[in-house]
Amino acid sequence: MGIDRRDFLKKGALASGGLFLSGLWKNSPAFGKGVSDARKLPAVLGGEKAHPGSWPKWPKWKGTAWDEKMIAVLRSGVWSRAKYTEQFESEWARMVGVKRCLSTVNGTNALIVALNQAGIGIGDEVIVTPYTFVASVQAILLNGAIPVFADIDRNTFQIDPEKIREKITSRTKAILPVHILGMPADMDRIMAIAREHHLVVIEDACQAHLAEYDGKRVGSIGFAGCFSFQNSKNVPVGEGGAIVSDDDDFMDRCYSYHNLGLPTGTQAGSLNGAFMVGTKVRFSEYQAAIGLLQMEDAVREAGLRWENGQYLTTQLKGIKGIETIRLYPKVNKAVFHLYPFRFIQDEFAGMPRDLFLRCLRAEGVPCGSGYAPLETQPFIKAAFESRLFRAVYDSATLDYEAYLEANRCPENDLLCNEEAVWIAQNLLLTDHAAMDDIATAVEKIRKHADEIVKKYNPEETRH
Ligand SMILES: Cc1ncc(COP(=O)(O)O)c(C=O)c1O
Repeated sequence: MGIDRRDFLKKGALASGGLFLSGLWKNSPAFGKGVSDARKLPAVLGGEKAHPGSWPKWPKWKGTAWDEKMIAVLRSGVWSRAKYTEQFESEWARMVGVKRCLSTVNGTNALIVALNQAGIGIGDEVIVTPYTFVASVQAILLNGAIPVFADIDRNTFQIDPEKIREKITSRTKAILPVHILGMPADMDRIMAIAREHHLVVIEDACQAHLAEYDGKRVGSIGFAGCFSFQNSKNVPVGEGGAIVSDDDDFMDRCYSYHNLGLPTGTQAGSLNGAFMVGTKVRFSEYQAAIGLLQMEDAVREAGLRWENGQYLTTQLKGIKGIETIRLYPKVNKAVFHLYPFRFIQDEFAGMPRDLFLRCLRAEGVPCGSGYAPLETQPFIKAAFESRLFRAVYDSATLDYEAYLEANRCPENDLLCNEEAVWIAQNLLLTDHAAMDDIATAVEKIRKHADEIVKKYNPEETRH
């Protein structure tokens, strides 16, 4: 972890002893008054990094104990869907608190299968947040349905339920809330709207493994939930996904759809008996085996991210120009797949966000700006121009300019283009001292914003 003040003085003392002997001490920032100056100065202005150490590696591998288990799976030669996959599914269902779980090759296909078997298809509209990974929206388009964006609340980074209401039409079939960055969406209000308008709710919990809302784990609140176990995720496998639900009939149909239309429970190698249209997006045994190992620590790690995330929020709260994340009152646990805050440029002497990120990275704090607005990316237009969409929708529906106008999300634009800052989840698998380092880094940049802007970006400032 980072050097706290006491550690730093200790280390500084040792280092200065060596430098003293070498005669270089007079020039060393780690000596005398220089100690505090170097600590106070941002790294981009020649100061020391707020966090000089490394961060936990992700995904993690525990070494020989895990090697042996994996080698057994590899040596077995049974690599297609079999006992490990079934074990993975029952374990994940237990952890989420649902009756059933079906694994898939990834989270994108979990969403595609779930939407498909929830009856979403051509002619339907699905209301979704614009602040999400492209997969949430691709899954809607791939089922031939139209994504409808309801703007976000910038304080929470989440879809705003009031805006969902405004977007409901006679074509609306489903709401796809995304527990973005590992923080539960406002599920009480979303479920109330869904009940009122008879809409299906499929939770995109791809970033929110073991997050809790009103005593329930996310994914178990709507009709169904979808997860991703992609390499960066809080429970990583490489590529992997899952659908969860309490509805047996739905889960049976998902099973068949994910396995060539064959009946539920049909194992790999079955040739005949397909009774419905289906794709093939089955999990593999070695994926399941990795997942089972990663699940061993998932609850503890989710708790640690939550604890350190809350602590970091308290440390960042007082810094002018940083708007810390707000969670809904019924959130029991956010799992911060990405820890977010909002950066207010005007409070940082007009410093562009990119420069702020560069400064933060220089302090030893990896960070990013996150999503670009989805509707600015060409894929929705491409779907509207596809043969399928042109065959089934009228030209008014496929008028892309009108679609863009109707789906404008100014709050999301501001968050994406100017404000959002993300810190990856592995930084939260540490301790309070490391969180202090992150806060110190931000504080240093804020304090020296004027000098930084003058040095690095004089012509782009707003002042
Ligand atoms: C919100 C969200 N939805 C869906 C997905 C798709 O999951 P996958 O990458 O496993 O296909 C992701 C993955 O990053 C995601 O973050």
